Amino acid sequence: MPTLFITGANRGLGLGIAQILAGKGWYIHATCRDPAKADALQALSTAHPGKVTIHKLELLDFDGIARLGKMLHDSRIDVLLNNAGVMNMAQRRFDPKLTDQDFGHTDVEDWTKVFQVNVIAPMKMAEALVEPVARSERKVIVTTTSIMGSIELNTSGRWHHYRTSKAAVNQMMRGMAAELKPRGITCFPLHPGSVRTEMNSPKAELSIEESTTGIVKVLENATMKDSGKYMQWNGEEMAW
Ligand SMILES: NC(=O)c1ccc[n+]([C@@H]2O[C@H](COP(=O)([O-])OP(=O)(O)OC[C@H]3O[C@@H](n4cnc5c(N)ncnc54)[C@H](OP(=O)(O)O)[C@@H]3O)[C@@H](O)[C@H]2O)c1
Repeated sequence: MPTLFITGANRGLGLGIAQILAGKGWYIHATCRDPAKADALQALSTAHPGKVTIHKLELLDFDGIARLGKMLHDSRIDVLLNNAGVMNMAQRRFDPKLTDQDFGHTDVEDWTKVFQVNVIAPMKMAEALVEPVARSERKVIVTTTSIMGSIELNTSGRWHHYRTSKAAVNQMMRGMAAELKPRGITCFPLHPGSVRTEMNSPKAELSIEESTTGIVKVLENATMKDSGKYMQWNGEEMAW
């Protein structure tokens, strides 16, 4: 059975994807910041004895990422999914009537941390785990991006920290696809749709189940033909 390595698996989309693939018999490496509080993930591990390993990982801790990479160096990882991400580090620190991260409200510390989690950490994860991925049968590295990373579709501005991080990660995954092509590794950014998780509004278009069911299909069917594309949850391509 294939192996998934997924970050941010304690809630939201990450938990949903881990649940579906564990149910299909995949072996799961799941990371979260606080395993003691990750009740749903612990329940998943209990429901699939010996098939779900939970790793404590703070993505701002690049040394921790490297240590995890060394620990798993001789293993096999079919799909590495950099799922964890943040919109901002502290919600609505300015006037609550304003949309966050709009023009005139640049917060250097916030922007830097959003970049570290959404862009640099996925690269560090890929660098740390590239050998286990290369040794696997499927050889897939995916990073969760957003429609908000699309330059073409940005007509409303705002959310500069988040948007630029997702645009950057799109560019990064495109480049990674080119660099890892000779090793037969498929790499792409994946937009999960607008989903009702803690990050988004309860009025968002998709349920977690709808989005993750689609994402799992994309992951299961991923091949080199998808490498370097800007994919979305339903298997269609996004406008860059
Ligand atoms: N929901 C949407 O509509 C939507 C749309 C486009 C893109 N996305 C992307 O989809 C991905 C998953 O988001 P979601 O909707 O499932 O959001 P979520 O419910 O807010 O979950 C975010 C996950 O990321 C983890 N995380 C955040 N900062 C971290 C850090 N510094 N180190 C380690 N883990 C960290 C969180 O862990 P903690 O519980 O410890 O905070 C949590 O597990 C993100 O990359 C997001 O940008 C979501």
